[in-house]
Amino acid sequence: MKRFQLIGGLALFGAVLLLLVGVVSAAKSPPPPEPLAPVEALGKAIFFDENLSLNRNQSCATCHAPEAGWVGAKNIFNEAGSVYEGSIAGAFGDRKPPSAAYATTSPIFHYDEKAGLWVGGNFWDGRATGNRLGNPAADQAQGPFLNPVEQALSDSACVVYRVCMADYPVDMTEVYPGACNITWPAGTDTACGVEGSVIGLSPGDRATSNMAYDSIALAIAAYEDSREANAYSSKFDAVYDKQAKMTKLEKKGYNIFRGKGKCSLCHLDKGADPLFTDYTFDNLGIPKNPENPVYQGNPDFVDPGLGGFLMNSGYDEEIYEAEWGKHKVPTLRNVALAPDGVVKAYGHNGYFKSLYGIVHFYNTRDILPECPGDYTEAEALAANCWPAPEVMENMNTAELGNLRLTYAEEMALVAFLEMLDDGYLP
Ligand code: HEC
Ligand code: HEC
Repeated sequence: MKRFQLIGGLALFGAVLLLLVGVVSAAKSPPPPEPLAPVEALGKAIFFDENLSLNRNQSCATCHAPEAGWVGAKNIFNEAGSVYEGSIAGAFGDRKPPSAAYATTSPIFHYDEKAGLWVGGNFWDGRATGNRLGNPAADQAQGPFLNPVEQALSDSACVVYRVCMADYPVDMTEVYPGACNITWPAGTDTACGVEGSVIGLSPGDRATSNMAYDSIALAIAAYEDSREANAYSSKFDAVYDKQAKMTKLEKKGYNIFRGKGKCSLCHLDKGADPLFTDYTFDNLGIPKNPENPVYQGNPDFVDPGLGGFLMNSGYDEEIYEAEWGKHKVPTLRNVALAPDGVVKAYGHNGYFKSLYGIVHFYNTRDILPECPGDYTEAEALAANCWPAPEVMENMNTAELGNLRLTYAEEMALVAFLEMLDDGYLP
């Protein structure tokens, strides 16, 4: 009896203690993130699955690592060409990965008659329009698996096959019943590991597989749209919610961002949960990145950006030429976020290796002398010059190029940009 009382008392004491600890820690840390919905959890498993590449060595996260703000986290690439190697060794694209977070918020690619501007889509040139699956990020998600310089699978049925065979916390058929009702020919497994193979499916199975491939893209987009990717948990958001205060330096940077720096003309900052982009396209006159691997095979390469996409879509010359060299305004959320020691690259070609570098470029592009060659960012900063723009046409000279900011003001802007990383704890 006594013993029972003692144990009972101890248990009660323990329970009270646990409750107290619970209350105290609940007051200190933010509420636990909402659990992912089944479709988001499926999308997450797919996003991180390296098996979904030719050599089972690359996932979406290889080039879009959450801890680096959903871009690549490998210095070997970021410090140089900034273009990531695909599943096949030695295969490279020609652009730097942008953030895969906050990509779902982009409107469907369209021409805004009133503003006279192209708006929206995914990719630096907007070519994942969203017209197919209703969201640019879903259209986008069908690209990398089959891109020979990315995950390099040669048949969408191979993506479906590997997703259907996978052992995920949430299986494909839990979310999309019937998606895996496909009779796979013998040897599918081996064939999917071979470059260029096409899986011979009956017309019915091919139709099911195509539908499943759409579902896979929609699941990825659902994950990219979840609170885990689009977290809105930066210090900037906490300040908006009156949970934190800006330091003097951050406040100064914010004022420059909205004022003298003209940044918010394109990187919109208004209201709750701003995305720091207006989804339009501009040519900032960023120099070519001389370390871009594309020049090894194609020394004359020039990135046409939006103009190239419009040209390939059959628009008239006068229309696409007016957009030559323009790239989508990226979100600035998570722009500074990186694990210790990881260098980040900025701009469509990763020319800049520091926030200071790109801010200094906005500030001084039109007043420093032209470098005598294709200098890297470090060389240009050391020589106090900027190389010629990669594309001269359509360069924006109205909103940037000579901002007359002091060094202290540039550093304040950098401090402000560093407030935009998710994961801030008040
Ligand atoms: C080898 C590196 C690599 C892999 C793997 C990769 N990406 Fe990307 N991603 C890029 C690059 C580079 C771009 C920009 C390409 C362009 O603009 O032409 C990009 C663009 C994007 C964008 C557009 C963002 C925006 O705002 O426009 C999204 C979203 C995205 N990737 C998601 C994914 C998903 C989902 C996967 C997996 C299915 C994936 N990526 C696999 C390199 C990669
Ligand atoms: C005229 C529109 C415009 C203005 C004004 C503008 N930006 Fe940008 N910003 C862009 C575009 C477009 C890009 C991508 C350009 C490219 O890669 O070719 C970009 C890219 C960036 C990047 C690189 C992001 C990444 O993930 O690669 C940073 C950082 C940035 N801007 C900060 C600023 C700051 C700070 C200011 C104010 C000093 C500013 N921007 C003003 C349009 C603008």
